[in-house]
Amino acid sequence: MNLEPLLSDRLAPALEAVAGVWMDPAVRVSPHADFQSGAPLALARTLGRPPRDIAAEVAAKADLDGLAEIAVSGPGFLNLTVSDHFITEALDAMAGDRRLGVPLTGEPRRIVVDYSGPNVAKEMHVGHLRSTIIGDALARILQWQGHEVLRVNHLGDWGTPFGMLIEHLISEGAEGEHSLGDLTAFYRAARAEFEASEEFRTRARLRVVALQSGDPATRVLWRRLVERSEQAFLAVYDRLGVALGPDDFAGESSYQDALADVVSDLDRAGLLVESDGALCAFPAGFTGRDQTPTPLIVRKADGGFGYAATDLAALRHRVRDLGATELLYVVGSPQRAHFQMVFALARAAGWLPESVSAEHIGFGSVLGADGKMLKTRAGETIKLAALLDEAVARASAPEIGLAAIKYADLSGDRRGDYVFDVDRMLASTGNTGPYLQYAYARVRSLFARSDTVPGPVLLDHPAERALGLALLGWEPAVRSAAELREPHRLASYLHDLAATFSSFYERCPVLRAEPAVRASRLTLADLVAHTLHIGMFLLGIPVLEEI
Ligand code: ARG
Repeated sequence: MNLEPLLSDRLAPALEAVAGVWMDPAVRVSPHADFQSGAPLALARTLGRPPRDIAAEVAAKADLDGLAEIAVSGPGFLNLTVSDHFITEALDAMAGDRRLGVPLTGEPRRIVVDYSGPNVAKEMHVGHLRSTIIGDALARILQWQGHEVLRVNHLGDWGTPFGMLIEHLISEGAEGEHSLGDLTAFYRAARAEFEASEEFRTRARLRVVALQSGDPATRVLWRRLVERSEQAFLAVYDRLGVALGPDDFAGESSYQDALADVVSDLDRAGLLVESDGALCAFPAGFTGRDQTPTPLIVRKADGGFGYAATDLAALRHRVRDLGATELLYVVGSPQRAHFQMVFALARAAGWLPESVSAEHIGFGSVLGADGKMLKTRAGETIKLAALLDEAVARASAPEIGLAAIKYADLSGDRRGDYVFDVDRMLASTGNTGPYLQYAYARVRSLFARSDTVPGPVLLDHPAERALGLALLGWEPAVRSAAELREPHRLASYLHDLAATFSSFYERCPVLRAEPAVRASRLTLADLVAHTLHIGMFLLGIPVLEEI
């Protein structure tokens, strides 16, 4: 149930009659009434009439029978008060529907969600944590709406770093099995050797060539690195309760065979320019600080392909072979320009028809208590596992620690940075994951203590009415989270709902009420529990029946 458009639609004819043209009544939730429209104020200038007169005329003409009461307020607002009868009927219908009144979409899209994307032989860091958590929530929300969601994990498993790492492992006699932690250390040592030794650089380059040309011994070592890393990433997903599995890996390496073709396609379309031996594209509208066009390097001077080429091949594959109609890339904000250029070039090449959308879903950084990028004391990026360990160790149950971390990541606008503060995240009050878990468990406990069957909703107390209206906000909350790709809209909604339930519960006894009222209040409580349950599932926050 989305009351805003419902009220808007009913108000629009009256507004049109007064304005002489159609205009959006812009009905919004308001602290002064259930909903409010400021349209008469906007109209006053064009009509040259006092806004209150306009408001009164619209109110007199509006046909809101059975839905709401309308009244002029303040300088010319229209206050809308939804009728109790309408609310109770809507709640009773919601109570009888597993999806709480949100139908499956009638226009399912095929949506590729590219998220997590860690790099082989490197431990996942907090940036990957954000991508993993936000991407997973978006995938869940879109899937719940009825879209076909393809989760894709664009693993960084190819390129020069692997030549370097493999060469280092060979020269150390360390070709055997290693944990991801060890590999990360080897990687660091390889990097140092690469910087220090010309001779090693040459060997590392030759090793890249061996890898790319399919030298069997090199490939075996590389496969081992990839498999070891994949196992470690899958263990993290499992721990996070994230729905990314082995079949979702589509690493950069999987596009290697398509790269030559990508280049010749672009070349034939006249989109490539040679610059210092490299093949570059200059999609229109991208310039650097000094206004010179920014290149997207498609093939490097040494003939190797980089990150951009792989993303171009991946995009083409997703649209052409997977049939995607929507592409989402949940990747940190610093890569914004990369994706904008890839999308622009793909459009120019004809790989991204107008009917297919591509969006970079950027997000901000995780900061330490000092407001700077989260780093260890030694100045290294903090590993994801360490953060999880800390939250879980401090929480009274692992699910609570997990809820704390995930919710903290999802509850603010994703574009913003946030401070990693375990104490705040774990608090059982405030806008936190544990608060939702406690709220849910508290509502559920009512049912353990009652044998009354929930019954038709009655709205006698203002707190009941407020809770009823809050419940009807479910559909718009899910919709806006999905359309704007902003999980925090759903998080805020769930938090507000839990808080509204809490003030209802303080004022309106449930189990001690007389039978019909008790049955009604149990229906409200059941709706709250059900809404929190689905909502938390969509955010990937674990639900506990008892805490
Ligand atoms: N591996 C990349 C990184 O760690 C993220 C990959 C994102 N996805 C993509 N299609 N480029 O920055």
